Amino acid sequence: MLKPEQKIAELKQAKKAVVLAHFYQSKEIQANADFVGDSLEMAKKARDLEADVLVICGVSFMAETVKMLCPNKKVLLPRPEAGCFLADCATLEKVILLKEKYPQAAFVCYVNSSAEVKALSDICCTSANAVSIVKGLKEKQVVMLPDGNLALWVQSQVLQKEIIGFNGYCDCHNNITKEDVLKAKDKHSVAVVVAHPEVRQEVAQMADFVGSTAKIVNFIGESSAKEFIIVTEEGILNQLQLKYPGKSFYLVSPSLVCTSMKMITLNDLYIALLKEQYEVEINADLSRKAQIPLKRMLEDHLV
Ligand code: 13P
Repeated sequence: MLKPEQKIAELKQAKKAVVLAHFYQSKEIQANADFVGDSLEMAKKARDLEADVLVICGVSFMAETVKMLCPNKKVLLPRPEAGCFLADCATLEKVILLKEKYPQAAFVCYVNSSAEVKALSDICCTSANAVSIVKGLKEKQVVMLPDGNLALWVQSQVLQKEIIGFNGYCDCHNNITKEDVLKAKDKHSVAVVVAHPEVRQEVAQMADFVGSTAKIVNFIGESSAKEFIIVTEEGILNQLQLKYPGKSFYLVSPSLVCTSMKMITLNDLYIALLKEQYEVEINADLSRKAQIPLKRMLEDHLV
């Protein structure tokens, strides 16, 4: 009897399938993925792969992004109900009102958003490239959708622009308070604090480094420090422990768990490969419109 890992490996080979997983996925999923990365890296990798089938172990906006960048590939999301609270914050109606209110502004849309909201935006960004994308815009006024915390962080890095935020937030990152960081620092006084830009501004201000998940992983690799307080989703600990076994990592709070990211089990991945489910499908006209800001984001000089 084959183990699930072996069955997954056989199916991947037989179907010329590649599994891409986000850093927040469970340890088991990360171990069975061909590639683990942040949302920007996943999109770029998917765009450049030769595979016939791409299985996205992440949440729905990640799978939709991949489908829009690779319309001719079969893109599978093992649990289609794995959504994103933050992406759901920006409704079409609210974005249309903002567009009427700020007709001169550039609209920058975080990839954590629906295809409909992307289609109304000028350019997309991820947390890895948000600062460089905003800096590169010709417009002085910029509306950033849908994460208000990310908008505030980008504003702190790009003083020459006027950034208008939105009231969306990631329920997981936004839960972290200044007191959580103070408590962790009290316990681990020499540890370096690293945070994702989806945290509240007062939390970001307490961090020694703020960046996307991949940037956090790279920063820790390059740092001479041995101890780190991690202010992002707990799945990242798996890669950190694998890559840097000599270093210690302390999650700032046990509540840093994204339940949507943790929906996909090893059995779901196996069934997804076996039955080629659940295929991501996006209306052709919507996809064509949403591809424009996504592709603009991926133009080489911008990332
Ligand atoms: P990264 O792009 O940094 O991987 O973040 C994705 C995300 O959804 C954070 O909540």
